[in-house]
Amino acid sequence: MKATLIFFLLAQVSWAGPFEQRGLFDFMLEDEASGLIPYDPDNPLVSMCPYRCQCHLRVVQCSDLGLEKVPFDLPPDTTLLDLQNNKITEIKEGDFKNLKDLHTLILVNNKISKFSPEAFKPLRKLERLYLSKNQLKELPEKMPKTLQELRAHDNEITKLRKSTFNGLNNMLVIELGGNPLKNSGIENGAFQGMDSLSYIRISDTNITAIPQGFPTSLFELHLDGNKITKVDAASLKGLINLSKLGLSFNSISVVENRSLANVPHLRELHLDHNKLLRVPAGLAEHKHIQVIYLHNNNISEVGQNDFCPAGYSSKRISYSALSLYSNPVRYWQLFPNTFRCVYLRGAIQLGNYK
Ligand SMILES: *[C@@H]1O[C@H](CO)[C@@H](O)[C@H](O)[C@H]1NC(C)=O
Ligand SMILES: *[C@@H]1O[C@H](CO)[C@@H](O)[C@H](O)[C@H]1NC(C)=O
Ligand SMILES: *[C@@H]1O[C@H](CO)[C@@H](O)[C@H](O)[C@H]1NC(C)=O
Ligand SMILES: *[C@@H]1O[C@H](CO)[C@@H](O)[C@H](O)[C@H]1NC(C)=O
Repeated sequence: MKATLIFFLLAQVSWAGPFEQRGLFDFMLEDEASGLIPYDPDNPLVSMCPYRCQCHLRVVQCSDLGLEKVPFDLPPDTTLLDLQNNKITEIKEGDFKNLKDLHTLILVNNKISKFSPEAFKPLRKLERLYLSKNQLKELPEKMPKTLQELRAHDNEITKLRKSTFNGLNNMLVIELGGNPLKNSGIENGAFQGMDSLSYIRISDTNITAIPQGFPTSLFELHLDGNKITKVDAASLKGLINLSKLGLSFNSISVVENRSLANVPHLRELHLDHNKLLRVPAGLAEHKHIQVIYLHNNNISEVGQNDFCPAGYSSKRISYSALSLYSNPVRYWQLFPNTFRCVYLRGAIQLGNYK
């Protein structure tokens, strides 16, 4: 029987490309238990592929199949598993058993609300975990220490626990936008222990203040579309490598004086669509900010030294983009030398009344 089956498979493979469905064969496999053909890493032709999925070069594609659970017969040498656009509601303990080589797990757009922390145990090489568009109220616990990228956009996450990220010191990128998160749901020290984190996005949530305690390794912090009312200096403390700070579409009316001094390597600051009454203090002294968006605010006055240092003593890198349009400032009343340190033509966008 075994010989017949192998012959049958070989015949199929020699006829068709690797993406050909092997319906009949799969059917027999399911019926007669997968032990019938033991997995043989030296002979990938004999490895299995779950019913209706496509398996090629250790990539297993099971998207858009209406699956309600993770297929049980995943090839153990899988490196990328794509389960997006299905109807999976729960990830159970044994769902990824044997997948010791898996580096990317895509679960986007399912109905997952439960995640057994034990499910990750076999995944000793997982680097990318994509969980966006599910119904998670919390991130899974015990994520593998090898994880580098976590995307959990558009879930129902209201809590970030200290234990969730603790020790994930290979993490580089975290995306948490579109969750109903509030500051009160973020535990003190929630981001601690991620010593390599370089990018985090928490956009379109219900936070009203910049969370404290981001790792000092951050290069980009994106907090657009929240309900933040103030930039407090303390929340930016220690972020010496921060290069981009996105705070567009919030309700910020105040930027505390010391804020910009706490982020000495900032290059881009997006503060457009807020409620600022004045240009943030510290721009003129800042050595690196090149892009500053202040359009759509409530700025009615601009001082001669708001953007550029007085005199020529302190060097400043010039601006490459500076926007002030849609503010109640009377542009014709601006001092002509206000932008004396902007050398690039077209860098300044003042607005309709130039
Ligand atoms: C978050 O804010 C939106 C409106 O901006 C609201 O509909 C939603 O109920 C809020 N969620 C929570 C958890 O407060
Ligand atoms: C800042 O970036 C540099 C260069 O990438 C790096 O060597 C340094 O460790 C970083 N500092 C922190 C606090 O992460
Ligand atoms: C912030 O700085 C401005 C001048 O740059 C000063 O007038 C103001 O008093 C300062 N505010 C605080 C709270 O220190
Ligand atoms: C703009 O600021 C003025 C005070 O300078 C205030 O009276 C007004 O309500 C503000 N407008 C908005 C839209 O916040």
